[in-house]
Amino acid sequence: MTKDENRIIVALDFDTEAKALALAERLNPKHCRIKVGKELFTRCGPHLVSALCARDFDVFLDLKFHDIPNTVAKAVAAAADLGVWMTNVHACGGLQMMTAAREAIADRESDQRPLLIAVTVLTSLSADDLIEVGVQKTPEQQVLDLATLSAQAGLDGVVCSAAETRALRGLMPEDFCLVTPGIRRLEDAAGDQKRVVGPAEAIANGSDYLVVGRPITGAADPLAALDAFNLAISRA
Ligand code: C5P
Repeated sequence: MTKDENRIIVALDFDTEAKALALAERLNPKHCRIKVGKELFTRCGPHLVSALCARDFDVFLDLKFHDIPNTVAKAVAAAADLGVWMTNVHACGGLQMMTAAREAIADRESDQRPLLIAVTVLTSLSADDLIEVGVQKTPEQQVLDLATLSAQAGLDGVVCSAAETRALRGLMPEDFCLVTPGIRRLEDAAGDQKRVVGPAEAIANGSDYLVVGRPITGAADPLAALDAFNLAISRA
């Protein structure tokens, strides 16, 4: 499998370093990338991120920064210093915040500059959830508007549901990276995800990378589950 075919990002949503490393040691960096999110980072800290990078994994540091521009810019620079492949901010933080984040890492050599993407609408949110927080648009319209804003800020891509990637592919520059969580096969439980899509359909819709957590980390045989996801997308 070449790097470009390496499109599954396994979300290491564990509560201890031992559990995270136990799975990482079984995974082949040629067959998946790894995502470190808020739970694992808050429990284990930056040294675990560096340890995973040192094991040759492309690490997506998914801390979804959302704060004033100066704070987010410094946080993104700190993420880049850890050697991660990708990191993210919330598009709702606004154009100024996203621009500051991009500028904070713009001067780095390309191999030391992580891809910087923005979260549009969390895949756990439905239209009713958006109304509760004062957003009257459909999730898809909100995703399209926030992706346009992210591109305007010069970001490399967005996190969205694979249900929205087809519409985004028609609108955004060709190299704009679409990262999609909420991926489930028919046999997987949705859990708290609401806008879920199957792996082959996600690729057919135009996703570049699929974030998969519990269907792999919670499987009786996580490696077999990863193989099944890779097989499904190779046939898409
Ligand atoms: O277990 P599951 O496959 O639902 O995990 C999805 C992962 O993707 C989680 O780590 C979650 O934090 C992350 N994520 C998401 N929706 C977003 C951005 C990130 O589910 N919009």
